[in-house]
Amino acid sequence: LPPRPDLDLAALVRTIPDFPKPGIQFRDITTLIADAAGFAESVRRMSARAAVYRPDLIVAVEARGFLFGAAMATAMGLGLVPVRKAGKLPGVTIGVDYELEYGVDRLELHEGAVVVGHRVVLIDDLLATGGTILATARLMKQVGAEVAAALFVIDLPDLGGSQRLADAGIACETLIA
Ligand code: PRP
Ligand code: ADE
Repeated sequence: LPPRPDLDLAALVRTIPDFPKPGIQFRDITTLIADAAGFAESVRRMSARAAVYRPDLIVAVEARGFLFGAAMATAMGLGLVPVRKAGKLPGVTIGVDYELEYGVDRLELHEGAVVVGHRVVLIDDLLATGGTILATARLMKQVGAEVAAALFVIDLPDLGGSQRLADAGIACETLIA
């Protein structure tokens, strides 16, 4: 599909009140990715921003991060390493516990998938409290990889994630705030 620099990606994201809990305004990207031009353009913009950091690997977070990370990896000619919720990866894993806007969870990475010297970009659909991506960054630090940047389609600045990433010294890019 041709580039659409004019396209308003924010208009393609749907907000669903009180999901999954009362008081949460859920930003739903299924409407964005169901739109061919919207999905292509969001992947193009994310890839262009990621390329500036010259990564040698994409690290994407389950589940919605996979949608954008996988498309970016093929567009950029890079491999993809998934960071998954507990118990999903079949090989030997290293794990980290973290807090969400609406609960607690555990993330895992295959041992050997990211190693010393790798320069990675972290990809997810949305930045809220930053808990997920900071946990992922901790995994990267444990294995000795360099986090060049974290990229998101959506930022919810009121939840403080972008500030926490800045405090942790992690470069952060988002398409929609
Ligand atoms: C959502 C979202 C991010 C994370 C952002 O994932 O896709 O991964 O929360 O929140 P944070 O910045 O406060 O950590 P969720 O855990 O709901 O899982 P899913 O992608 O599997 O739906
Ligand atoms: N992940 C954490 N908070 C979220 C929100 N408000 N909408 C969509 N995904 C989220």
